[in-house]
Amino acid sequence: MALSFMRKESEMTPEAMVFSDNFAAMDALAEDLDGEIGAERWVEVTNAEADEVFEEIKKEQTFVILTLGSDETTEVEACAELIRKANNAELLVLLVIGDVSPRTMHNVMRAGAVEFAPYPDPPGALQEAINRLRVARTQGGGILGPAKTKSHRSGKIIGVYGVAGGVGASTFAVNLAWEIASIVRSEGRRVALFDFNFQYGSIATFLDVPRREAVYELVSEAGSLDQTALLQALSSYRDRLHVLTAPRDALPLDIVSPSDVQNILTLARDAFDYVVIDMPQALMGWSESVYTAADVFYALMETDMRSAQNMFRFVRSLKAEDLPLGKLQFVLNRAPGLTDLSGKTRVKRVAESLGIEFAHLLPDGGKQVVSCCDQGAPLAEVARNNPLRREIAKVAQRAITLVNTEATAEAT
Ligand SMILES: Nc1ncnc2c1ncn2[C@@H]1O[C@H](COP(=O)(O)OP(=O)(O)OP(=O)(O)O)[C@@H](O)[C@H]1O
Ligand SMILES: [Mg+2]
Repeated sequence: MALSFMRKESEMTPEAMVFSDNFAAMDALAEDLDGEIGAERWVEVTNAEADEVFEEIKKEQTFVILTLGSDETTEVEACAELIRKANNAELLVLLVIGDVSPRTMHNVMRAGAVEFAPYPDPPGALQEAINRLRVARTQGGGILGPAKTKSHRSGKIIGVYGVAGGVGASTFAVNLAWEIASIVRSEGRRVALFDFNFQYGSIATFLDVPRREAVYELVSEAGSLDQTALLQALSSYRDRLHVLTAPRDALPLDIVSPSDVQNILTLARDAFDYVVIDMPQALMGWSESVYTAADVFYALMETDMRSAQNMFRFVRSLKAEDLPLGKLQFVLNRAPGLTDLSGKTRVKRVAESLGIEFAHLLPDGGKQVVSCCDQGAPLAEVARNNPLRREIAKVAQRAITLVNTEATAEAT
């Protein structure tokens, strides 16, 4: 049997083959695909045609869209089987999922990692997932890729640490991660933000993302964690930033060991290109694991005496452990403005007394900042022109250059 898309080949190669057996929202999806891909450029096929389709597809030009809209065992198994077959054929796969349970998600993820788009909500998720596939196709690679290619990413770890409570570390981490995600989005890079404050981490609130049940398993069984379990614990902010929130219940910070943290970071490096980590203020046994793994480590403070004393002790403890200081970037939050001359003198004095140089001075962004945190959105989304947002966007640009230059320097 000649397939419809083969007949069309002389006219135009399809960009996507869409498996839609039993997908209730297919009419709406068809309309969206018409808009996103073009009505002539995608072809609807049935599961029964899978073998033939996978054999004929030119993987450089066409990707596969699978759909799953229910927890029905036969459908989940059929979907998992299609994922395995597509992975074997090394095809790029987008899984469009309706309202399914976490257990179903887990089952299909076990079949092999693919790019996901929840459907129909949130708006834009489908479009962004298709764009990522397009980028991946031009780079000849997968998104998360099937298991056998998963280690092709070698993510950069970006640590964020506030030396005293409330100096703005989480605000900085959230906005830095979002700015990086926005900058590298067109290159199909993946960015994650991890909240390592297992006790009172606030990232879930700052981005208004759900705290997944699986986070508890992740931290309590971190030593035996695999990539599926890691990905399952992540929430997503606007489908662009992958977020590991703190668990729902406060946990002791020493619930993870240094080797657990190393394991999490190794998996994270495989799955993402940039991983921003918001550290708790307390220094734990595993803090050193993050510091050692980090490509760059931002230490935030304010100009007050409490911050200065803590920064002094922090740097001294790094020196005592013989840890390299080169990756450390000192950041002063709520720095005095240009016209505040006495403030500027104070900054100079603080830097001198600590024997450090500030890499970045972040301005006070006023009430807008608190209101963004409360609204659960990065500054770029609701207060784009806020001075703090503009400065963090610059830090993000510098961070990308910095970690990639470091990598090049190491390689040569
Ligand atoms: N530059 C700034 N301008 C205005 N408000 C800011 C600025 N930086 C942080 N804030 C506000 O200060 C408060 C504390 O910030 P944040 O929670 O990020 O600090 P933290 O160091 O992570 O605190 P914690 O010790 O609780 O983890 C938040 O309400 C945030 O909106
Ligand atoms: Mg914090």
